[in-house]
Amino acid sequence: MAKALFYALSRRASLKRLASRYGMATPDSFARRFIAGESTEEAIEAARTLQARGRLLTLDYLGESVTTADEATTAAREYLRLIEVIVASGIERNISLKLTQLGVGVDRATCVDNLRRILDPAQRHGFFVRIDMENSPYTEVTLEVFETMWQQQYRNVGVALQSALYRTEKDVSRMNALGARVRLVKGAYKEPASVAYQRKADVDAAFSRLTELLLDEGTYPAIATHDEQMIEHARVYAGSRGIAQDRFEFQMLYGIRRDLQAALLAAAYRMRVYVPFGREWFPYFMRRLGERPANVTFVIRSLFRERS
Ligand code: FDA
Repeated sequence: MAKALFYALSRRASLKRLASRYGMATPDSFARRFIAGESTEEAIEAARTLQARGRLLTLDYLGESVTTADEATTAAREYLRLIEVIVASGIERNISLKLTQLGVGVDRATCVDNLRRILDPAQRHGFFVRIDMENSPYTEVTLEVFETMWQQQYRNVGVALQSALYRTEKDVSRMNALGARVRLVKGAYKEPASVAYQRKADVDAAFSRLTELLLDEGTYPAIATHDEQMIEHARVYAGSRGIAQDRFEFQMLYGIRRDLQAALLAAAYRMRVYVPFGREWFPYFMRRLGERPANVTFVIRSLFRERS
């Protein structure tokens, strides 16, 4: 319900304009809780601070659903620049990206070319590149593009899979068979009942099952959630199977459950923070509100503070 509402609002140009004006304007503007900044330099600074506190990192240059090949090429160019800046900065070499940002919704060949343009220098410089998973119309094409890269011997790349989708158990096995690295998430998009579980309990049960499958048969899986029960399940299961703590990692989003991030680090788990940045932060931000409508209260409070 909340996901659907916030998804609909995220398509409203007037709201986007309003949010863009106030969301990142000052150091304590509301979107800064979830977004590391609009510029690469701000993101590197935020990442440096996290790294100094023991977190692993992945940087995401926000953007999605481009509608022209030119926009896709521009996004790819931004990623090339990001790679250079990360190398120069000395922070961990790990990025995340979305295929609709690289043009998969415009033309698959353009997207493959753009992705290859990023993977080549990324490979040369020892980066790992994670392909985020978007809404279900893109699931199959995302996996196919990923497999194309894998066939072309790229090994510095992995993909995210969503426990909300019925198909994901097969997709986890498909990726495990390749030896590919999977990031498991619940799924941030509003999906129809024809393809996805609608009840949180079912999404969670699938997440636990898939965690086990990944820990048993996967290659260095990432368990990406802020849900304490899911995390506890992964910890207990890995412990019971004698799976060492460095054979998998936990991941969380920038600005969310920093207490839990610290607790996992203190218990010697590997903890990666997904650091999103860039001017196109609005859809990402709205997904974070949709996951936890209580976040809206803090947005409204900070808006009043800024305008008074
Ligand atoms: P759940 O939504 O059940 O929340 C559990 C608890 O976490 C809440 O009770 C609250 O305490 C806290 N929490 C969760 N969301 C919060 C928020 N927005 N604000 C404040 N607290 C919050 N999705 C996707 O479809 N494709 C992708 O590629 C990715 N990539 C990705 C990477 C990483 C590193 C993470 C952590 C997540 C993603 N996601 C994603 C998002 C994911 O699908 C999911 O929407 C969110 O992680 C929220 O779900 P939880 O697993 O945290 O559980």
